[in-house]
Amino acid sequence: MARLPITVYPHPVLTTPTREVVVDDGIREILRDMAETMYVDNGIGLAAPQVGLSIRVAVVDVPADGDLPASGLLYLVNPKIVASSGSAVGPEGCLSFPGLDIDVKRATDVTVEYVDDLGQPQTLSAKGLLAICLQHEIDHLDGIVFVDRLDKVRRALALRDYERGLQRMAAHRNGIEK
Ligand code: CO
Repeated sequence: MARLPITVYPHPVLTTPTREVVVDDGIREILRDMAETMYVDNGIGLAAPQVGLSIRVAVVDVPADGDLPASGLLYLVNPKIVASSGSAVGPEGCLSFPGLDIDVKRATDVTVEYVDDLGQPQTLSAKGLLAICLQHEIDHLDGIVFVDRLDKVRRALALRDYERGLQRMAAHRNGIEK
């Protein structure tokens, strides 16, 4: 297993739709490396474009949320949302947007079809944090990042905050912050 470097916005791979894949040993190795990367970086989900790979693959492991149980580690190959309902706004972060936390409107309930790491078709119905995470990761696979879910003005403000945050982090690293 290996920890993979995280791709940070505005890298173009993050805004490019991914291609579907067939599960094989190479895909399984990528899934396991992505899981390790997600855990090391304290994420609850990670999509392949976030490690520079334009393939329709993601990993998710969401903790218990109220009375909803933890998801456990899910390997998602070629996932797609086949049903969704409800609407709620809640806080989200993204490993590809270090330092940025925004409120995003999402469906509250989703059903996702995907193939697991053994190549078996699966159907998952989710609500709560898992539903949010699945929508966030599947958006990544469609080349959509979470700021794209904001209206035009909020998106521009979020990107301004994000860029200023990156500059502050770079200045801090360079030891020139006053
Ligand atoms: Co993300």
